Amino acid sequence: MNLAEREMEIPASEPERQYYFIERARQDLEKMKEAAGRQLTFCVTTFGCQMNARDSEKLVGILEQVGYIEEPDEEKADFVIYNTCTVRENANQRVYGRLGQLGHIKKKNPHMMIALCGCMMQKPEVVEKLKKSYRFIDLIFGTHNIYKFAELLATRMESGRMVIDIWKDTDKIVEDLPSERKYPFKSGVNIMFGCNNFCSYCIVPYVRGRERSRDPRAIIREIERLVADGVVEVMLLGQNVNSYGKTLEEPMTFAQLLKEIEKIDGLERIRFMTSHPKDLSDELIEVMGQSRKICRHLHLPVQSGSSRILEKMNRRYTKEHYLELVKKIRAAVPDISLTTDIIVGFPGEMEEDFQETLDVVRQVRYDSAFTFIYSKRTGTPAAAMEEQVSEDVVKDRFDRLLTEVQKIAGEMCSVHQGAVQTVLVESVNEHDPELMTGRLSNNLLVHFPGDESLIGKLVDVSLDECRGFYYIGRQI
Ligand code: 5AD
Ligand code: SF4
Repeated sequence: MNLAEREMEIPASEPERQYYFIERARQDLEKMKEAAGRQLTFCVTTFGCQMNARDSEKLVGILEQVGYIEEPDEEKADFVIYNTCTVRENANQRVYGRLGQLGHIKKKNPHMMIALCGCMMQKPEVVEKLKKSYRFIDLIFGTHNIYKFAELLATRMESGRMVIDIWKDTDKIVEDLPSERKYPFKSGVNIMFGCNNFCSYCIVPYVRGRERSRDPRAIIREIERLVADGVVEVMLLGQNVNSYGKTLEEPMTFAQLLKEIEKIDGLERIRFMTSHPKDLSDELIEVMGQSRKICRHLHLPVQSGSSRILEKMNRRYTKEHYLELVKKIRAAVPDISLTTDIIVGFPGEMEEDFQETLDVVRQVRYDSAFTFIYSKRTGTPAAAMEEQVSEDVVKDRFDRLLTEVQKIAGEMCSVHQGAVQTVLVESVNEHDPELMTGRLSNNLLVHFPGDESLIGKLVDVSLDECRGFYYIGRQI
């Protein structure tokens, strides 16, 4: 077949087009395997959040269909892909550091290819730097065209040249592409993409684009298929799940979506992430209170306890509003576990502001909190703000915050001592093969004697001994 004929047979519509390129890449890989005289392997390394973790499962799904075999050790793999994060500067630094090492390994392996994708690639200065100083990279793409991975891979294999394809934004959502799951019994499910909030410190709206929700029917269909395939727990994913459905042709609320998902037979647990306090509705609180399947855990990022700083962050709620919300949630779902994200050292943060943050931490009593040092992201409004806080002041506040958060988290964990609760068994304990590790509805980990046959099952355990942030238990 000549080139023109070959171009004509490429399907124009998705996902058919990608299935076509999977087949083409499979044929290309066959030739590469013959030349190498062995199987070729891949390793997908994920940086950052659960969204990226889910995207990586899609990459794995495609690589497996193309015929690569998974190799957990990145230094031994023939195809290495980094799915990157850029939410804080240290995420970028880690990628550059590891890339340097990969470059050396590639010199020794003529069959090796290196690809980069994810949020960091959406920044033009990053791609410029990679093009200039990391010429050994084979393929670079961004967050908006990840569904095109098979096509880009085939293009790279056939052209032998570095392939770069980054889109500024998209309104496209491609359904029904292959995807692998890390765990057979639980899965992330995207319900929306992008973010429209523009918190002033955050790069996400610039690298993940405008908010768009998936059609509820596509979400339900995906979950039904997952359940038929053995999944009992889903984590609904979006940057701001509370604003789900606003952009749909037939608008629908997140609470309504949850009610539909609850009806799916065989599905036992529903989690979701992340909620923005400004959009958390009374309707959602009511649905959570009544649900049998929604887990007793809410991640509700506060970012700061100071209303003055919250305004500069463009969060669109005050300290009082946030505390009021927490009160309502605790009233409707008394056993709920609350977790949060907090940023220390936002520009202009004074000791009084920091004290307000500590006050919120003490009033809410979080079960756990992710604490971050503010990281300046070029292009965001906060990066241009004056009064950036000095490093030693930030470090001191960060340490004080961490001490408080950990003290309270330990106390919150210990209140369950002696209770019997259900865990979803996830794995054999990493340190002790006699123990199994499971997760409670409220997200706490429990380790208890058992065997591998329990993985993926829901079992009742007695929470015998609190060890700081987890329990040692016993199956009942
Ligand atoms: N600096 C520090 N932390 C940040 N986050 C987002 N942007 C920044 C930044 N520039 C944190 C927020 C968010 C979490 C995912 O990362 O707390 O909730
Ligand atoms: Fe970033 Fe704010 Fe959007 Fe979260 S809600 S992704 S912090 S802009």
